[in-house]
Amino acid sequence: MAFPYQIQSYDQYKQVYRDSIVNPDVFWAEIAAHFQWHQKWDSVSQADMDNAESKWFSGARLNITENCLDRHLTDKANQPAILWEPNNPNENSRRLTYADLHREVCLAARMLKNLGVQRGDRVCIYMGMVPELAVAMLACARIGAIHSVIFGGFSAQSIVDRVLDAKAAYLITCDGAYRGAKEIGLKSIIDEALDQLDCIQAVVVYKRTLCQVEMKSGRDYFWQDEISKVDPKAALEESAESMDAEDPLFILYTSGSTGKPKGVVHSSAGYMVYTTYSFINVFQYKPGQIHFCTADIGWITGHSYIVYGPLCAGATTLMFEGIPTWPDAGRFWEIADKHKVNILYTAPTAIRSLMTFGIEPLQGKSLKSLQVLGTVGEPINEEAWEWYYEHIGKKNCPIVDTWWQTETGGIIISNLAGVTPHVPSYATLPLPGIHAVLLNEKGEEITEAHENGYLCIKNSWPSIIRTTYGNHERCRQTYFDQYKGYYFTGDGAFKNEEGFFRISGRIDDVLKISGHRIGTAEVENAINQHPAIVESAVVGIPHPIKGQGIYAFVVHEPDFSGSTILQDEINALLNEQIGPIAKADKIQLVAGLPKTRSGKIMRRILRKIAEGEIEQLGDTTTLLDPLVVEQIIQGRVH
Ligand code: WT7
Repeated sequence: MAFPYQIQSYDQYKQVYRDSIVNPDVFWAEIAAHFQWHQKWDSVSQADMDNAESKWFSGARLNITENCLDRHLTDKANQPAILWEPNNPNENSRRLTYADLHREVCLAARMLKNLGVQRGDRVCIYMGMVPELAVAMLACARIGAIHSVIFGGFSAQSIVDRVLDAKAAYLITCDGAYRGAKEIGLKSIIDEALDQLDCIQAVVVYKRTLCQVEMKSGRDYFWQDEISKVDPKAALEESAESMDAEDPLFILYTSGSTGKPKGVVHSSAGYMVYTTYSFINVFQYKPGQIHFCTADIGWITGHSYIVYGPLCAGATTLMFEGIPTWPDAGRFWEIADKHKVNILYTAPTAIRSLMTFGIEPLQGKSLKSLQVLGTVGEPINEEAWEWYYEHIGKKNCPIVDTWWQTETGGIIISNLAGVTPHVPSYATLPLPGIHAVLLNEKGEEITEAHENGYLCIKNSWPSIIRTTYGNHERCRQTYFDQYKGYYFTGDGAFKNEEGFFRISGRIDDVLKISGHRIGTAEVENAINQHPAIVESAVVGIPHPIKGQGIYAFVVHEPDFSGSTILQDEINALLNEQIGPIAKADKIQLVAGLPKTRSGKIMRRILRKIAEGEIEQLGDTTTLLDPLVVEQIIQGRVH
């Protein structure tokens, strides 16, 4: 059997789970033994939850890319590591074997070194979904540089914020990117960001679309030119940097309740062990299978289940450059047939959006290769689950509903495909090594079925967040301070009689728009930059496809008129400050916001009004000005 730690039955899961909680160090040491190390660990885990400190495989030395690449060269050199499907179906797809990918990574690693990148340096990556994005990440990891991938849909301003926070001196980008019918000038967005940055020493530009770009001599270099200068023989002989188990592998920015996205830091060894373990167990990956995760690598899903998890497991991972609805809504299904995809991992929002086209786009598609389906990013409604199960899986494929977060590094609550039961809308059970509990307001563990609580984790696990870059105290306060000794997820949930978790969603000021995480404060900060706006309050509203939409209450200057222009201007601002993912669905101009006497905005009330639940506003008499509520109700945007 290929993976001795792959769980084979529900009974075995129960046994393994129990053992993993009673004796976590023994459990994880057995799994870690199946990886390649320069030096083994002195201790498996050391966790101080109160101080947000976790160390896994302390004292060990390794390079994650040797686990993703080199060790597969003996038996999988000619097996595809990455299959790449271009945006345009008429363009050729690409196939990089493990030998090819290893070579590309070694060359790119040398290129980065030639440009001055050193161990520990931060490298921001802003690229479309081309294989070179994975190559760039792995090349950084190979030389011990810390990558920070910035989602290609973020604006110049978002890039500036992330580069400055990470104190990065290097950028890797593309000339342009294709997304459906659109061509996006990534380098020109980078140029806009560079106008505000003086810390960048080198910019590497991978030529993808061959669009016109401006190159600043002495700072900007074409990837292809620099790679051609590398001596391949020498590059292949260079050894990978020997990293400490706890050396940071990457930073990935994510939104929270405050205005500023935080840089979630993951470390090398623990992240490697956990993403591989979860990949193999949740998807029940079998050697030779083709795994297609439709996420963008700019999000944690892509990091863990397009790049690191599958490659460490020696799988074939499919990367898709385009979007599900172009040239038509049958694109995913066409790709599944063309590449004989076995595991399909996507987001509820994509399923809901494809459902609106009916089953016509499925005509002529066999989907016979599919064996396992997965979802991630937000709760999946039963209707979408059933459609996915029936029309895509043909009632033959288990669906894994995988609950996790950027901070958890890998999937931590999910059924195991075909091994533990699937139940629509339930993420079901924690993975081995994860002590998931529900707490009430007082911090007591809830044992009653169907009682709502805060989802918390009572122990550390290998891929737990290590810190928020440059500000450890923020990490401690956000995740480890609410309940002593627990990791606080920010999600609400309940369990059914069988102990299966059903996640209801965020209980903080974080929105999930099409599965993308955006803080209400970030949206408000952007809106408030409009000269005619005094202040604003943003809440989430249910949206049939996106899961959640944005409802903005804005207070404008007294002498302002012209509300229709304002709508467009606000959305232009959001586009400029955050990116196209942050679009206000509804904007209501109001005279004032409901505030407490101490000046705190009562979002609970705004949320109810936005959702149209005006009968349940609760007590509004303690408000500074109870009259504003009446006015807001009158002017509600339907
Ligand atoms: C938040 C984390 C994990 C990779 C993509 C999102 C929500 C995630 C599920 C699920 C219900 C889910 C939670 C979580 N979420 N997966 N299967 N069922 N909700 O990562 O951007 O860090 O967002 O996504 O609210 O806290 P992220």
